[in-house]
Parts: sequence; C-alpha cells; structure tokens
Amino acid sequence: SSPALRAIINLDLPGATISRHLYGHFAEHLGRCIYGGFWVGPDSNLPNHNGIRLDVVNALRKLKIPNLRWPGGCFADEYHWRDGIGPREQRPRMINSHWGDVVEDNSFGTHEFMELCELLGADPYISGNVGSGTVQEMSDWVEYVTRDDDSPMATLRRQNGRDAAWKVPFWGIGNEPWGCGGTMTAHSFTELARQYSTYTRNHGGNQLYRIAAGASDGDFVWTKTLMEALSHIGNEQVPRDLFQAVSFHAYTLTGPWEDKGDALEFTTDEHYLSLAIVRRIESFLEGHSAMMDVYDPGKKVGLVLDEWGTWWNPTPGTNPGFLEQQNALRDALVASYHFDAFHRHAGRLVMANIAQTVNVLQAMLFADAETGSLVLTPTYHVFEMNTGHHDARTLSVHVLDETPREQTARGPVDVLSTSASTKDGSALISLTNGHATEELALSIDLRGAVVTGATGRVLTAPTLGAHNTPTNPAAVAPRALDKVRIVDGVLEITLPPASYTTVSLALG
Ligand code: AHR
Repeated sequence: SSPALRAIINLDLPGATISRHLYGHFAEHLGRCIYGGFWVGPDSNLPNHNGIRLDVVNALRKLKIPNLRWPGGCFADEYHWRDGIGPREQRPRMINSHWGDVVEDNSFGTHEFMELCELLGADPYISGNVGSGTVQEMSDWVEYVTRDDDSPMATLRRQNGRDAAWKVPFWGIGNEPWGCGGTMTAHSFTELARQYSTYTRNHGGNQLYRIAAGASDGDFVWTKTLMEALSHIGNEQVPRDLFQAVSFHAYTLTGPWEDKGDALEFTTDEHYLSLAIVRRIESFLEGHSAMMDVYDPGKKVGLVLDEWGTWWNPTPGTNPGFLEQQNALRDALVASYHFDAFHRHAGRLVMANIAQTVNVLQAMLFADAETGSLVLTPTYHVFEMNTGHHDARTLSVHVLDETPREQTARGPVDVLSTSASTKDGSALISLTNGHATEELALSIDLRGAVVTGATGRVLTAPTLGAHNTPTNPAAVAPRALDKVRIVDGVLEITLPPASYTTVSLALG
C-alpha cells in the first residue's frame, strides 16, 4: 500500500468562526416536502403536533437545524401570504405552477411554519415575493410576524390566534430573479431589492437580516451589481445598510439540464465528476467573495448560498415536478466535500441551505405519509456527524504530500477532502476519501495542544450507490472507529474507500 500522506494541523491557530447557519435547511411548497413530508394535518393517524409530523421533527432535531428557509424557491415568488392565514377551511386555493402544476390549498401557512420552526428549534428564514407581489404586501408580512403593539397587522395576527410577535431574523428579498423569480436583469432586480429592503422594517426588537436574491453559479456580475447598490445611493458614495447579504445558488449535476444523471445508476467516472463539480462550486465561492471584497473589504455584507445540493433525474414513476430522487453514499460525499469548502470560506460565507430537507432533491429524510415510513438518508448522517463544527473556529489542514487525483471531464479532482475546527477544548477533523476503490492512509501531526482523547466515526458502504430504504434503513449509517491511534501527537488513520470520517479530539 502507498505510504501515508503527511499533514499538519496547528490546534492553537484558529481562524474564522464557522457559523452554524452554514448548516441551514430549505423547505419549499414542492412535491412532498411540506405536504406529506412535514405536514400531515391534525387528522392524520401519524403522531403529530397540530398537523406537523413528530417523528420527522424528532429526527431533524438531532441535526440542530440552525435556520429553515421557506416557502420557496420558485414558489416564493407566486406565494401570497394572506392566503395562508385564518381558518384553514376558508383559505383560498392556488396553482403551484412551478412544481407539478398541482392545486395548493394553503393549509400550511405562516402560523404553521412558525410553529414548525419552534418545534425544530430553528430560526425562521422567510423568502418574500418580489416576482409577483408588491412592496406593500411584503411590508405587511413583516409587520404581521414581528410587530407587538396594536398595529393593523399585529391585530390581524392576534385575531388568528397568535398574541406575541415572533422573532424572524432572516428575510429573503426575492428568489432567482434572473429566472423563475421574474426573468429580470441584475440591474432591474437591484433597483427592486433596494426598494423592497427599504420597506421591510425592523419592528420593536426584531432586527431583520435581509438577503438579496443573487447569482446563479458563477455570475459574478450579478454580485457586482448588488454590491454596487450598497455603495452608491443617490449622489452619496456612502455604504448603506439596505440589505445585509447577497445570495447565490449552485447545484451539483453531472449531466445537462435535460438529463442530469441517475441517482443510483452511475459510473465511477460520474462519481468523480460530481466531486469535481463541488470543486467548481468552491471556485464560485472564491469569485463571489473576491467581488465582494472589492466593495466591502471589511466583510460586513454576508454571502449566502441558500440553495445547494445534488440534482439528479427524478425517481422513475414519480411526478417529475416533485423532484424526488434517491440519496446514496455518493450524495453523502458530495455533502462532506461541500462542508469542507464552506469551512474554508467561513470568513465571508455566513449561511448555506441544502435543497431540500424532506423528500425533495438532496433530502435528509424520506417520509411517506401513507405508509408512515421514515428513512434517514446518507446525507442526513453527514449533517449529524458535523454538528461539532457549528460555531467552531476553523483550523487549517496542511497536506504536505501530493494528494491523489482522478481525471474528469471538468479537470482533475483531489480524492481527499479535509477540514477541521475547534471549540470548547475540543477539535473535530473531517476526512473524506472520495476514491471509489482504494483506501487512503494519513499521518496527521497535531501540533499546538495536548490531545487527551480521540474518538472516530466513519460513514461508508460497499458501493457508492448504497442507500437506505424502509426495509434496509441502515445500509449507510455511521459506525464507531474501533481505535483511533495517536502516537506522540501524530494521528495515524486509514480511510476506507468511498468514506467520510470524523475524528473528535479532547484537548488538554
Ligand atoms: O430547489 C428547487 C428549485 O431550484 C427552487 O425552487 C429554485 O429556486 C431553484 O431553481
């Protein structure tokens, strides 16, 4: 076998804080994410709290979800919040034209979403309608959820059964305005972002963190246009705090849009390609960050990647508009590669939201309301294994030897991905071996602190297509590493092929 790759971690040189919000989630009115996923209704036989499925909530609580983005996505730009309040049987219906062309009965609305966030312990991130709404409508929505006195919207909220105002820290101004959110140019959207941001007020003690909808992939001009808007208001060359962050979206798909690749039937080359695409997404992070540095060297404005994840062809036999896809060990490695990249950019990247939490795209859970089954996906386990990185400070992993690489249609890709962090007298090291068939030995010199204990966990399976089902729910599940060897401050570890490993260190 090849000699161990040598690496160094300086445990006493922490960098930027990894915001827990990099582990954010996204739940859209799309297919079976909300309806049949989170929401089964109060009359369901499945255990529920006011209609919200409880085993789903309990499984997600283990992930310590920091924030939940809702109601879209593309759906957000045709959603009118007033249709989703008041007695459920009186709520008007609408067509969900983006996702399956199905009728939406608005039974899950603002109050239900806020209750879901309370159950999850997650901060709400509401995405407001710019594409087909009005400035007044969005302004009223903010007042409805966050104002405490006897203002018109606060009074309406009380009439609908909620006395106290909620806290809503995150507010999205539009979604994909270049596409489903209105087919706008960067310039025309930026004008609207300024206008809408002005009228989304801070009520009482609620301080909104407004996130202006941003670029697709590497459209750095979009980011430039938004950043310019913060620097040049009227004739003043004065930075203004109109919106606090700009977003972008970047998905992982190995084929063209018409044939994105199969979730389970893929070649090893396609697996390496999916990892190379994550590296491409990291180059988008670099580009957007560099563009923001020009206008905001002090890093006051946040970068938000509020949609990411794998996007494969829909599961055969399902409604293609519901974006249901299987989730295999390959997806888990795509997720761990993303998180390593996110940690490297923690100085600018303040939030990221995987698409989507239940039953849609790169889901954490498959929940079936008819059978009552609930399956944890391989991706779920990566989120759970990484909770120790939340709000920890990054540690650089310096790999001294040349990392093995595989060639792909998008250039070479490293088959090793790493990151590390430290908090509260501990450190967490993330190690992904992306190689399909070969193990990878590492020898990591842990400098700058005394390591008093070490435990490890590994997520792997015999094939990259391995996945969990109701009848085989633990085909891909983390297991403890028998022994983690640290000799004279050097961690010696062998990563199995196609695996994700975490090593947790207690520091003296
Ligand atoms: O996550 C699915 C869709 O992908 C979202 O609605 C949209 O914003 C993006 O195109």
